[in-house]
Amino acid sequence: MRIAIGSDHGGYELKEHIKSYLSSKDIEFTDYGTHSTASVDYPDYAKKVGEAVTKDRFDFGIVICGTGIGISIAANKVKGVRAALVYDENTARLAKAHNHANIIALGGRTTPFDKAISILESFMNEQEEERHMNRINKIKEIEGK
Ligand code: RB5
Repeated sequence: MRIAIGSDHGGYELKEHIKSYLSSKDIEFTDYGTHSTASVDYPDYAKKVGEAVTKDRFDFGIVICGTGIGISIAANKVKGVRAALVYDENTARLAKAHNHANIIALGGRTTPFDKAISILESFMNEQEEERHMNRINKIKEIEGK
């Protein structure tokens, strides 16, 4: 499994926590930054992770800002991205099963770190349901794919 991960300063600490978890599980990841708590603009990191997920061979991406809201909005502007802002295990599971999300967005200031790991595990353990493919294709039609 290969994961692309990125955050702004509001998500930096959660990103580092998730990276430690991924390393402990021998899950491969590429960190697209940011690399400190210095203030940056979340669209820059949404773009990096969004392009990585749609152009490279990543299984999925993780984007994190303070709330997960701004970075999920920005990531969804990258063609081919289906980014889901998930705040609990059930929405993470449904984002994979029903919406075939290829990026999950988390809030570094709104989601406790242990909860974020549980949310991530729920997403990784779920499968995309084929019966929703018609809806995914309609999303692609809106994108003009
Ligand atoms: C940055 O202060 C903050 O606005 C950002 O991390 C995010 O929460 C935006 O949605």
